[in-house]
Amino acid sequence: MKKVEIKTQITVFDDIQELSDLAKNLMNVAIEAKQNAYAPYSKFKVGAALLLENGTIVTGNNQENAAYPSGMCAERVAIWKASSEFPNEKILKLAISASSSSQILNEPVAPCGGCRQTLSEYELKQKDKIEVYFMGEIGKIIMTDSLLNLLPIAFDKSFL
Ligand code: THU
Repeated sequence: MKKVEIKTQITVFDDIQELSDLAKNLMNVAIEAKQNAYAPYSKFKVGAALLLENGTIVTGNNQENAAYPSGMCAERVAIWKASSEFPNEKILKLAISASSSSQILNEPVAPCGGCRQTLSEYELKQKDKIEVYFMGEIGKIIMTDSLLNLLPIAFDKSFL
């Protein structure tokens, strides 16, 4: 038996002003996309924006349902929209922002496990890393240069 240490790497930005112009613009689009979230139950709004290789930005936001599990997260709405409209276009970057009606989220809000799994499928498919940026409503932003940094020991098609 042996113990294995798994390391991951993130970059922490103090606020949106520290981002490159490209990343700042993408985050601002994600913030804007958050406004159209349909979140009457959780009152927790999430916006996501994907930058494709052809320069297109595809957005998504969470869409809830009275039958709670039938709702969907912003990241999956965005990635499925991107893959259905631009199946062969590589995804370069993803920006995510979340807001709650009960508190001002001033720490980065990480994508949930289900979204990490879904997003990882497309990073593996395109054989190029997706840079991920996530924040709350204000304050720090976490960036990682590969989606898989957020999902060590991932399940993928190699097991099938
Ligand atoms: N949500 C997202 O949109 N993305 C995540 O990664 C985490 C959670 C949404 C789902 C639900 O509409 C609300 O946030 C509260 O969980």
